[in-house]
Amino acid sequence: MLVCYLTDEPSKIPAIRAMLEPHFHIVPRLLGDVPPFYAGGVLMVDADLREMVRVQQIKHAMSELHAINEKLFIVQQHLHHMVAQAYALGATSVVRCSREIAPKLAKIEATMKAARADSSGITPEIANCAKGFASMFSAIEHGNSISLTDAESVTSQVIASIAQDGLSAWLDNVRRYHEGTFQHCLLVTGVAVGFALETRFAEADVRRLGIAATLHDIGKARIPLSILDKPDRLDPSEDEVMKRHPMIGYELLKDIPAISAEVLDGVRHHHEYLDGSGYPDRLQAGQITDLVRLLTISDIFAALIESRPYRPPMSRQDAYKILCDMDGKLEQPLVKAFRAVARAA
Ligand SMILES: [Fe+2]
Ligand SMILES: [Fe+2]
Repeated sequence: MLVCYLTDEPSKIPAIRAMLEPHFHIVPRLLGDVPPFYAGGVLMVDADLREMVRVQQIKHAMSELHAINEKLFIVQQHLHHMVAQAYALGATSVVRCSREIAPKLAKIEATMKAARADSSGITPEIANCAKGFASMFSAIEHGNSISLTDAESVTSQVIASIAQDGLSAWLDNVRRYHEGTFQHCLLVTGVAVGFALETRFAEADVRRLGIAATLHDIGKARIPLSILDKPDRLDPSEDEVMKRHPMIGYELLKDIPAISAEVLDGVRHHHEYLDGSGYPDRLQAGQITDLVRLLTISDIFAALIESRPYRPPMSRQDAYKILCDMDGKLEQPLVKAFRAVARAA
């Protein structure tokens, strides 16, 4: 589960990490310096509530972080009015000493999981992310542009969900969602983010890879539905049209200043192979960045395990075997590192 840890004292962070990781995924932030957290998981506030300046900073943070429902406060001072202060600031639960933290988080995690499993099998997170993809695709189909914020919002939700429940739950839930293109985007983003979290990428790198994955097939918004949703294999001329989507995606995004060069590179080159046999630019190994290599592996793995109208979904083990057999096209050390994710998935 994702735990956004908000504190007034940077020296507290290593001890919290040592105590709670790896079971919980800790994202630390300093009070007064609060860039957006992910919209999910638990917010854990650990600050001296006797200091007025801290109380003001927490109030401000709370108004920014209203999307996080669970707010756990650590109140070390054993004073009744401090506990009351925590609840007044928006706490949903309070612990009074460090050893209560892990059991309390485990309890919150169990409650949140139970609340999320709804009868349709499609969790609100998946429904929300799918809605995010749908609105980006529809904006492009209608000739409007999209913004980095649209992609960031979907990516944050995927990261929060996977940090919370794991990649396996994400993949199982997404496969109950039956809209081909969005299912694919949800799976690729999930696999890429799952890999980045598992490999303990820095937070900024998880986001960068996540955003590239979120946007990687955005060019498909301009591919005719008759091709995109064709229930059979594509014939060669349709395949030609389909293969235009990386370039289309690149063209759609290249003038949006907030979209980074790495993300653009991922959108344009996620079908390139190390041996130069990919498209659209027939890049060779040395021209293909790590982010793109990872994106390509995530894309192929996700495409193999998703359900297509003309074939049943492949098992994760079989899909992983195919990645291993693509020696020369995919970077094998990365494929090896991917093994843990494919197994966990
Ligand atoms: Fe693609
Ligand atoms: Fe794709």
